[in-house]
Amino acid sequence: MKRILVTGGAGFVGSHLCTRLIEEGNEVICLDNYFTGNKKNIVHLLENHFFELVRHDITEPYYAEVDEIYNLACPASPVHYQYNPIKTMKTSVMGAINSLGLAKRVNAKILQASTSEVYGDPKVHPQPESYWGNVNPIGTRSCYDEGKRAAETLFMDYHHQNRVKVKIIRIFNTYGPNMNPEDGRVVSNFIVQALRGEDITIFGNGTQTRSFQYVDDLVEGMIRMMNSRDGFLGPVNLGNPGEFTMLELADKIIELTGSSSKIIHLELPKDDPTQRKPLIDLAKKELNGWEPKVKLEEGLVKTIAYFDELLKEEKVLA
Ligand SMILES: NC(=O)c1ccc[n+]([C@@H]2O[C@H](COP(=O)([O-])OP(=O)(O)OC[C@H]3O[C@@H](n4cnc5c(N)ncnc54)[C@H](O)[C@@H]3O)[C@@H](O)[C@H]2O)c1
Repeated sequence: MKRILVTGGAGFVGSHLCTRLIEEGNEVICLDNYFTGNKKNIVHLLENHFFELVRHDITEPYYAEVDEIYNLACPASPVHYQYNPIKTMKTSVMGAINSLGLAKRVNAKILQASTSEVYGDPKVHPQPESYWGNVNPIGTRSCYDEGKRAAETLFMDYHHQNRVKVKIIRIFNTYGPNMNPEDGRVVSNFIVQALRGEDITIFGNGTQTRSFQYVDDLVEGMIRMMNSRDGFLGPVNLGNPGEFTMLELADKIIELTGSSSKIIHLELPKDDPTQRKPLIDLAKKELNGWEPKVKLEEGLVKTIAYFDELLKEEKVLA
């Protein structure tokens, strides 16, 4: 049995990761300050004696004897990371330093949840890990993009300077149950709008493409990365290379929800990348043939069921 710390464990991805790690017979410490996470996401684990919940802000040091650390603490959606950009940068940078300091002290292996945002508005398509990116250092997204880039630097420097066992994954757009309905991410936005019968808002003309990864595929990749061979540090892309335009996504969601919502177009936000798609050859090679298994429609059906339930609960409480 391993003792595993998951920072940001009460968030969307973290809650699925904690659940999977507990199911596999590990002891899990879930650390979160509940900025964007929610106890509801992990309430089903609270009765388990091998699950521990800690309210803590990762910008402050934290100590515990652990074998592995998954560092996920960081708001991930533009509305939340732009709410307090200085705090976002602190969470990325100081959170990385505190997590790496702990890993060094207790000799734990540590995985960083980085992001495809490190590629910025890419000039290379699709993006291989060797691409250095095209990032604006002073824009509205910079607190997140540059924070995550600095965190990757820190991970590599702790490895080279202190021999800390690090792993870096770059996550591309991921969706699934437990997403925050208010975080403005495209899949949750469209689903909530469709279920409420509101207009579906597309930024720009809707021809910009994204790839969507179902959360179970991501969690599988994260665990494989943590268990990958010594000496393989990444960064490695984890994402679904299937590409869809915003219009295709909206149409699919309208069809699956049976909604009468109409599509409307709003102005494209600044620095919004027009295209992003992962190359996953490295993940396939290093992570035992890992590749996404869940088809968009299958993942959407599960996610729609989750939001449908959530909106019904909200109605009952209103
Ligand atoms: N979901 C995606 O599509 C995606 C894509 C790329 C990268 N990521 C990365 O994966 C990680 C998890 O993302 P998510 O989608 O689950 O987001 P999320 O916002 O649902 O989860 C982040 C969690 O971190 C917690 N947190 C934030 N600041 C904290 C702090 N200072 N101290 C302690 N806890 C803090 C939040 O309360 C939340 O529970 C993030 O690091 C994110 O950058 C996610």
